Amino acid sequence: MSTTVRNIAVFASGSGSNAENLIRYFNTMDSIHSPRIALVVTNRPDAMVISRAEKAGVPVRILTRSQINDEAVMKALMEEFAIDAIVLAGFLLMVPLFLLRMYPDRIINIHPSLLPRYGGRGMYGRHVHQAVIDAHDTITGITIHYVNEEYDSGQILFQTSVPVTDTDTADTVEAKIHALEREHFPQVVHQLWGI
Ligand code: GRF
Repeated sequence: MSTTVRNIAVFASGSGSNAENLIRYFNTMDSIHSPRIALVVTNRPDAMVISRAEKAGVPVRILTRSQINDEAVMKALMEEFAIDAIVLAGFLLMVPLFLLRMYPDRIINIHPSLLPRYGGRGMYGRHVHQAVIDAHDTITGITIHYVNEEYDSGQILFQTSVPVTDTDTADTVEAKIHALEREHFPQVVHQLWGI
């Protein structure tokens, strides 16, 4: 792993709109010094992220949960693509401890709420937005944070919020959150690891 971040792996389990947005942002940059999304890893053979990444020319690896938890497999994969940092974008598995140790302060996650509200096991996607609606919250937002051994509890790097109104539903909140993610996520990654 080099001291500057050149190659980023995105781990995703679902639709992959954030993965696609990160690829669009970094892999079309002029600067030869800026990081690239060099690999997409998914644990779901049916995830839409696969076609999005392939369309953009980024290699994809579909791995089982046990392969992701296998140190030898993951070490070899990270070395094959010379990965310096990992971005979780809708990745639903726990990151194994050996990867956290391999990449100290080099693994971040995006969460679709203002943590610590609505974090932890089971709090992902629609569950988060429905919880915001059920609690009659007047704001929600996104959190980008370092990843540690517990779900959604690593050091927060960035948060931004958006109003929730009486007429919002989980669907409309999700759309607002995706818009926030689209606007901010690549820039935050760039500020953190770019040159
Ligand atoms: C995003 O809302 C992200 O915050 C969360 O999961 C969702 C993934 O969406 N962790 P997508 O797969 O990037 O479209």
